[in-house]
Amino acid sequence: MKKIILLGPPGAGKGTQADLICERLSIPKISTGDMLRSAISLGSELGIRVKSIMDSGGLVSDDIILELVLERLTQPDVQKGFLFDGVPRTIGQASLFNEHRIAFTDVCEIQVPDEAIVERMSGRRVHPASGRNYHIAFNPPLQPDIDDISGEPLIQRPDDRPETVLKRLEVYHAETRPLVDFYQSSQIKDLNYFRVDGTQAVEAVFRDIQANL
Ligand code: AP5
Ligand code: MG
Repeated sequence: MKKIILLGPPGAGKGTQADLICERLSIPKISTGDMLRSAISLGSELGIRVKSIMDSGGLVSDDIILELVLERLTQPDVQKGFLFDGVPRTIGQASLFNEHRIAFTDVCEIQVPDEAIVERMSGRRVHPASGRNYHIAFNPPLQPDIDDISGEPLIQRPDDRPETVLKRLEVYHAETRPLVDFYQSSQIKDLNYFRVDGTQAVEAVFRDIQANL
């Protein structure tokens, strides 16, 4: 059974690859980013608390993330495995997951240099209800600004403005990048840590991931 973490900077292609992997392995995607965005669009108490943090490119607190993840893991579909997309994001979250005995089989690091990321983000389009990601040039929808599956309109994410992307990259290097060493040097038995070159085309990245899983 696969319990996978996708690790990488904003815009590395985590969400894009997550959808491909989850479809192939028939496991659910657990994306705290998607869950928080859905709380914001519902206008829930959680959504109101996190909106300004997310819009500015900062990180939501470890306690909120732990609560979201524990709650999600009570649903029956996780019995056959799962994929964590962009979570954990801090050493604090990874330690909390350990304490709560959330175990993983694979950590996949998608590597993309900062320079490539700002360009990718400006062309990203998202289907808010599903979290499906497109890119106007690199991964276009069949019809411009329309989701392939639902036929609904695509939007741009509020945190994809260039200055916010730079802030998110800064936060990644300070808070999330240390997880590379954390998982690589961890004593977790049989944990398969691997990295792929995320600057390749979407299909080539997916091929490399499948070869390592
Ligand atoms: P989250 O939604 O997780 O965003 P992120 O990690 O910043 O990453 P993105 O979703 O922006 O990028 P991605 O790697 O998924 O790339 P994608 O596939 O879309 O988090 C958002 C915010 O929520 C955070 O800033 C924080 O505030 C909060 N948050 C969430 N989780 C949290 C946590 N655990 N702790 C604390 N706070 C948390 O691809 C990007 C673009 O590139 C797309 O247009 C895509 O089509 C294109 N693309 C993909 N692959 C390729 C390729 N190979 N070649 C060319 N283009 C490609
Ligand atoms: Mg994503």
